[in-house]
Amino acid sequence: MHVLMVCLGNICRSPMAAAVLDNKASELGANITVGSAGTADYHVGEGPNVMSQQVWTNAGYQYDHTAAQFTIEHFDTADLVLVMDAANRRDVLRLSRGPQDAGKVALLRSYDPTLAELDSDDPRLEVPDPWGGSRSDFEEVLTMVERSVDGLLARLA
Ligand code: 4NP
Repeated sequence: MHVLMVCLGNICRSPMAAAVLDNKASELGANITVGSAGTADYHVGEGPNVMSQQVWTNAGYQYDHTAAQFTIEHFDTADLVLVMDAANRRDVLRLSRGPQDAGKVALLRSYDPTLAELDSDDPRLEVPDPWGGSRSDFEEVLTMVERSVDGLLARLA
């Protein structure tokens, strides 16, 4: 099982989500590999956003990351493409070659069991962009990511 986390810049949200899933899956001994990508090429080759990395490291997650852009080939290697917001979903679906690709795409927070009753286009299912925000914005993103990843792991178990 390969899970790809996708956001816009691939420096804040999706590397944090990949860090959380990678660490939690390892702890559980789950056979899950994790990657991440951004729909934009702005930060390709860069490391993670400093605040994002500090927040996930402080929470006990260890993860190395270099930013990359999402490409069509990611549909071939990923079983699940988990996007952070509706714009990411639109941009990823624009590259999909058909229902097999499109069927792999979901909002990460759709796996949060406390949000299970929401429609798939409900804005409350989005992980807000914390770029340029405060530490507490990044900590809120981490909380959303952790709940969703726990829900994902429970569903896959
Ligand atoms: P991310 O945050 O999509 O969570 O990595 C952003 C990072 C960079 C930019 C926007 C969002 N940017 O416009 O450069």
